[in-house]
Amino acid sequence: MGELIAVLSGKGGTGKTSVCAAVSTALARLGHSVLAIDCDMGLQNLDISLGLSDSGAISFLDVSEGGYRLEQAAVHHLFPALSFLTAPINRTAESVDEDAFRDMVRSAKRKFDYIFLDAPAGIDAGFSLAAKFADRCLIVTGADPAAMRDAARAAQRLELMGKTDVKLIVNRVSRRLFSNMAVTVDDVMDTAGLPLIGVVPEDPNVTLAAAFSAPLISYTNRGAAKACEAIAKRLEGRRVPLSIFDIF
Ligand SMILES: Nc1ncnc2c1ncn2[C@@H]1O[C@H](COP(=O)(O)OP(=O)(O)OP(=O)(O)O)[C@@H](O)[C@H]1O
Ligand SMILES: [Mg+2]
Repeated sequence: MGELIAVLSGKGGTGKTSVCAAVSTALARLGHSVLAIDCDMGLQNLDISLGLSDSGAISFLDVSEGGYRLEQAAVHHLFPALSFLTAPINRTAESVDEDAFRDMVRSAKRKFDYIFLDAPAGIDAGFSLAAKFADRCLIVTGADPAAMRDAARAAQRLELMGKTDVKLIVNRVSRRLFSNMAVTVDDVMDTAGLPLIGVVPEDPNVTLAAAFSAPLISYTNRGAAKACEAIAKRLEGRRVPLSIFDIF
């Protein structure tokens, strides 16, 4: 059985989509079958971060409610082990048939090793849809107080939903911040009340790779790409120490 992993935040723009794309492509490159699903209905952009923006991908609703099969999901030209379903444009999360969605992700778990759900910003219907059936949740936050507070709210919401496997990714960490990292990471973990699974540096390659329609891990193997690869390995269950030399 595969694992369903929701990538969430409280605050918008913390890097969910960028991290979701980099970690899912890293797992595909490590030899796993992966399905990445964009759950940001109306504001979808996971295709861009995956380097698939002209793929004409079908949406998850085409599969859950529209009669398409999972096998018809777009297959990545650089990572054939990675399939992708985009988010529908003209529907809201509230209107999604949850039973049909659950059946789709259950069947995806029989076909793929990892299924990633890239959640929208906020902690309302889209957040709940992405988290509801997830086996693991990753909360992506910045190290700033506003993002931390929202990550803590997201963590509380997940606790109310009965989610027990919830981990934190601190994104966009600067070198200067990393020097004080022991303090910062402890603060973030204390505020959110969650264990850490990775720290991703501030890295202009994240935006550059997207601008060149390239997946981050194909564009560079340093910085944020390396940090996301380390997160992928930790999700596999490997012990990868957190080291400043790995990410800067
Ligand atoms: N580690 C990073 N270093 C530099 N820029 C980053 C990093 N992570 C994300 N970004 C940039 O921050 C912006 C927001 O990232 P992204 O779209 O991944 O966030 P998001 O949490 O998915 O946003 P939303 O809540 O709107 O879905 C993008 O322009 C992206 O290129
Ligand atoms: Mg996003």
